[in-house]
Amino acid sequence: MSTAPMTALSRPRASNRRPFDALSTRTKSARAARSRWVAARAAGDAKPKAKVAVFVSGGGSNLRALHAAMEDGRVNAEVAVVVSNIPSCGGVEWSRERGIPTLTYPPKKGEDGLTPDALVAQLRDAGVGYVLLAGYLRLIPPQLCRAYEDKMLNIHPALLPAFGGKGMHGHHVHEAVVASGVRFTGPTVHFVNEEFDKGKIVAQRHVRVAPSDTPDDVAANVLRLEHEVFSHVVSALVDGRIRFRDGDGVPVIVGEDGTEE
Ligand code: GRF
Repeated sequence: MSTAPMTALSRPRASNRRPFDALSTRTKSARAARSRWVAARAAGDAKPKAKVAVFVSGGGSNLRALHAAMEDGRVNAEVAVVVSNIPSCGGVEWSRERGIPTLTYPPKKGEDGLTPDALVAQLRDAGVGYVLLAGYLRLIPPQLCRAYEDKMLNIHPALLPAFGGKGMHGHHVHEAVVASGVRFTGPTVHFVNEEFDKGKIVAQRHVRVAPSDTPDDVAANVLRLEHEVFSHVVSALVDGRIRFRDGDGVPVIVGEDGTEE
């Protein structure tokens, strides 16, 4: 990770930018958080690691990529708990082997288990500050959306707002992409609200769809990009480097050198 000096943020910017005093409170607080973070880095005084919950329903390659990025210091966080609706899925098994606590949510129909309020309470008790949906195939309860507003991200394997919404998950997405004839696709990382795939977009990556590509080819190409972009956004989120643009509230990542994307 780079150790950008504190002055990086005060570099001259495009002339049409408003002076700092005119920025919104949210912008100011994001900038202030970043300044504190840069100062802490410069002082060698590392910020404590954020605790995240990762929700999975499948093999968990995004979970593993996030975990690797945390282990090698690219993301200042640790996985405090893994949540799944499928206790036997690859992501949960991998977590158990590493001693990462796991929770089942929602319980199977007709079985006792966590209610939405109990889930939120368990996450709070575990000190979870952020929730990451990495291939979780259930709708998130409103209680969780409210508890983690602007602190919960999802990764979707297509360029939203296209190819999103109910039923658009896994191979369905890539089949629809190939059938549509679009020339580009790629993952989207977005904040989560109460509607499927409708939260504010934070970052996207794109890859070409070749005429000979099958849905499986597209899925493999997109998955590689997912692993990079998700860690990139989570790093910004836990560092406090996402600001919300004045007027429309679009999230903008502030890089370690002060650039915005
Ligand atoms: C990924 O394509 C993700 O975008 C989607 O579900 C898939 C999960 O893959 N939401 P994995 O379990 O992380 O390997």
